[in-house]
Amino acid sequence: MEDKTEDKRIVVAIDGPAGAGKSTVARAVAERIGVPYLDTGALYRAIALKLHEEHIMPDDGERVSERLKDLRLEVGRGTISADGVDVTAEIRSALVDGIVSAYAARPEVRDALTGLQRAQAARGLVADGRDMGTVVFPDAELKIFLTADAEERARRRYKERLERGEEADYDDILKQVKERDRYDMTREIAPLRPAQGCIIIDSSDMSAEEAADAVASLAVEFERQRKR
Ligand code: DC
Repeated sequence: MEDKTEDKRIVVAIDGPAGAGKSTVARAVAERIGVPYLDTGALYRAIALKLHEEHIMPDDGERVSERLKDLRLEVGRGTISADGVDVTAEIRSALVDGIVSAYAARPEVRDALTGLQRAQAARGLVADGRDMGTVVFPDAELKIFLTADAEERARRRYKERLERGEEADYDDILKQVKERDRYDMTREIAPLRPAQGCIIIDSSDMSAEEAADAVASLAVEFERQRKR
């Protein structure tokens, strides 16, 4: 008889606040276990950018859902486009950092993205975001909540900005990190919190590589046990 265990690949759900190192960890884990990586924050960012450009405010539920019916998001390997336009770089701007939480708090936006995210998981997936383990993939084989204290996360963002040649002010970034945490954790729908059955990892004193190694080892061990 056909062995289905080989076909059904692992889903790893990684949640946590901005700047905890989720994307570095998720990318490394996906590579180690050979499944695709999905950056769900990029999906929210692309929607925020597009709707903002079109002057559709996050609290205008009717226009938001109308527009989302025909907005075409395409995810490539490390790229994302909206209605055929590559927005990979633009979604990382300070502008999008500032507006994305308000769009991500809207039920119309979250509903539209839940189906899209689940549709990517058929061949296994490592997905990072805020509600991977709690809402989108509650049955994921491995759920991780990756966190770090706000000051350390702000330091990482500050360094990233400087490395990209952008201007950066540490105090502003720290304020924004804290504001975004509060917004993401207290919103009514899909608030950021550790999922049931998740493993909590605090990366404050770890390098991105160390955190990636820790999670990848768990995923590799899980795959090994499952295939036995
Ligand atoms: O991880 P990030 O900074 O790219 O996320 C951008 C925003 O999108 C952030 O405000 C939280 C939100 N988000 C979310 O609500 N749910 C997800 N699964 C991923 C991101």
